[in-house]
Amino acid sequence: MSDVMDWDAAYQGHIFSGPPPWNIGTPQPAIASLIAAGQVHAPVLDAGCGIGDLTLALAEAGYTTTGVDISTAAIDHATERAAERGLAVHFIQGDARNIAELGLAEPQFNTIIDCTLFHSLPIDARDDYLRGIHAATNPGGRLYLLVFTTDALPADSPCPVPNLVTDAEIRAAVAKYWTIDAVDPSHVAVRLPDIPGLPAHSFRTDENGLTYLPALLVTAHKTAA
Ligand SMILES: C[S@@+](CC[C@H](N)C(=O)[O-])C[C@H]1O[C@@H](n2cnc3c(N)ncnc32)[C@H](O)[C@@H]1O
Repeated sequence: MSDVMDWDAAYQGHIFSGPPPWNIGTPQPAIASLIAAGQVHAPVLDAGCGIGDLTLALAEAGYTTTGVDISTAAIDHATERAAERGLAVHFIQGDARNIAELGLAEPQFNTIIDCTLFHSLPIDARDDYLRGIHAATNPGGRLYLLVFTTDALPADSPCPVPNLVTDAEIRAAVAKYWTIDAVDPSHVAVRLPDIPGLPAHSFRTDENGLTYLPALLVTAHKTAA
């Protein structure tokens, strides 16, 4: 199964004619709500952290946070942003489907946040990934996973289409390793690229130009031994 896209090329502006649509400058609203509600507990792993919109916000709020991303361009940018803000964040460039290679195989995180990484993985990488992040979580620790549903993007989009999921599909994948607490309808906010041929849509767009694409927010935990 091939990768969804060349992630470095996306961050270098070669795929979306500008910054990638998910670089919105702040944590996704669905994840920001969890933080505001006190449902995120350090240490946190931001899996597929991109340029660190979430990782940096967590660090600024005092959470010990590690960000992992396969894209060198994204991790370089995230590291620069952390230095500019004087924040101590542990960024690791590497593949989240092999947690052991990243030195994160032992239980150490109380919260794993997957903010749109899952649908960015090849389908055949999902199982290794979910097993790996489960191993890296302390007993009782939480997983929050925000993932696009099958109605989020049309298959004929001129942009690369990620591996969208159904409710049943995400439940089956996550439940193999985790205890699921909830699977709630949610949204991923994106700044749609200015690309010819982008299909018309009827999703809500707010006054800041963010469009809210349908998603699911999975909440799960690692059962205490
Ligand atoms: C849709 S972006 C989301 C980025 C970030 N979480 C955000 O919300 O801004 C998906 C991210 O997953 C990263 N990614 C894709 N495959 C990966 C893998 N196997 N291991 C780690 N990161 C990966 C990409 O480089 C990209 O930064």
